[in-house]
Amino acid sequence: MEGRRSIPTWLAEAPAEEVLAWADAEFGARAAIASSFGVEDVVLIDLASRHAPRAGVFTLDTGRLPPETYEVMEEVRRRYGIAIETFVPERAAVEQLEREKGFFSFRRSVEERKECCAIRKLEPLSRALSGKSAWITGLRREQSITRAEVEPAEIDEAHGGIVKLNPLARWTEAEVWRYARAQELPLNALHARGYPSIGCAPCTRAVAPGEDVRAGRWWWEQPEHKECGLHVRGGR
Ligand code: ADX
Ligand code: SF4
Repeated sequence: MEGRRSIPTWLAEAPAEEVLAWADAEFGARAAIASSFGVEDVVLIDLASRHAPRAGVFTLDTGRLPPETYEVMEEVRRRYGIAIETFVPERAAVEQLEREKGFFSFRRSVEERKECCAIRKLEPLSRALSGKSAWITGLRREQSITRAEVEPAEIDEAHGGIVKLNPLARWTEAEVWRYARAQELPLNALHARGYPSIGCAPCTRAVAPGEDVRAGRWWWEQPEHKECGLHVRGGR
């Protein structure tokens, strides 16, 4: 069993490349990139191919992802020659949910939406992180009020105190797009159709120009509820 990690203070100001290089040196293949294949995550995979090449890439395949997400996953798989590990929800739990509550239970209340996210995302995430020492995400501060204090490196108390790295924490949306265009990265086709943030198909829609980037996620809920539970903050 490893001792509890501490995080070097310099990581708070470090560029994404250095955060990833630190992850590679500290954790090697015990670090994993969580990818939903939005533009941030493809930027992350591209940077990691050079700075943290041993980190694997996983995705939570909820069963409700839009077809465009599978298309970009396949493009990324081929371009980088990487295996993408998918974690699917537990079959019996999905069968029971759909049998008892139908196919859109998440529209009824925040609680029922969180129940669906727990089955389709949280339980698979706990399996994805089991045995890992660190995970790497595409979270950015700018994305929402719930993310304004995200640090490039944190201790993730919600997942057993492992290290959580958010190398793009301080990147702006413009910086992300500049990088993606310069490197000609494969991109989810929904971005060009007005979707800045992409999750499950029934819980994501396009936003109007000038609207908040996450306005199209669970658009029927208030902004302070718009987290699915993957990212619970508190620890440092
Ligand atoms: S979410 O929590 O509301 O779904 P968002 O879509 O903004 O999050 O993504 C934030 C980060 O969470 C992504 O950059 C990625 O690291 C991780 N993430 C989100 N959804 C998934 C998924 N389906 N599979 C793997 N990682 C994901
Ligand atoms: Fe279920 Fe929607 Fe959460 Fe996907 S985003 S797991 S469909 S509630």
